[in-house]
Amino acid sequence: MTNQAQPIGVFDSGVGGLSVLRALVAELPGEDFVYVADSAHCPYGPRPVHDIQRLSHAMTDFLIAQGAKLIVVACNTASAAALTYLRATFPIPFVGMVPALKPAVGCTRTGHVGVLATAGTFQGELFADVVARFGQGVRVHVQVGHGLVELVEAGEVEGPRAEAAVERCLRPLLEADVDTLVLGCTHYPFLTPTLERVSQGRLTVVEPSAAIAAQTRRVLAERGWLNGQPRGKQLYYTTGDRLEFGTALSRLMGVQADVDGVRSDYGHSTEV
Ligand code: DGL
Repeated sequence: MTNQAQPIGVFDSGVGGLSVLRALVAELPGEDFVYVADSAHCPYGPRPVHDIQRLSHAMTDFLIAQGAKLIVVACNTASAAALTYLRATFPIPFVGMVPALKPAVGCTRTGHVGVLATAGTFQGELFADVVARFGQGVRVHVQVGHGLVELVEAGEVEGPRAEAAVERCLRPLLEADVDTLVLGCTHYPFLTPTLERVSQGRLTVVEPSAAIAAQTRRVLAERGWLNGQPRGKQLYYTTGDRLEFGTALSRLMGVQADVDGVRSDYGHSTEV
């Protein structure tokens, strides 16, 4: 029997999902959250689908073992590769990330919308389905954010290296007259000030974390699973280096918290 007091599980390949966790805590302050970063296997973006499914399976097993009542897959790459698989495999509800093309189409004036994401997110049916459903009447320009996940993982979201990497990604989009940019990777919202600086305000940046948090509320409310306590807590785990993750947490989120370790071969024997 699911109990309202059980936490919400959240996972990503690393620190990116913290941009979603921030929105979740703002939307659902009474919930407890368990966040796990699969930092030992980050980045997920260049991995084949079966590998991302295996890793997502392991993170889900871990979160269920922590008592999660619902899991937010706070990673576009894992959502693209594994959301259907996870829903078919585990009996609990999942909320996943989808590139926010729908609101972007409502914003563009030039009719050119850019989507910045990992190579993994552009593979497979999820992205093709979003473009088919919401991309009518606009040109959708896809761009892989080469090197951006690594910069965010290193906490290097401003400065010359971040600007140069962002400039390389944005140049083809700006040259194609893109005026609206969908952030299709949960690491990228931490680069928003740099994206805005490099594009000199020519881009409207759209990211879906608030919509994902609202969707999470709806899924919990439908089941009567909302936690009524006044203020919840957040627990942090990583399969990688605990100190590094703690430093990133404080740099990116201004949060000082203990980080616990999860064995990097957690769920190692899972066959997908
Ligand atoms: N934060 C992730 C995403 O939303 C994954 C980045 C990666 O590990 O490549 O796609």
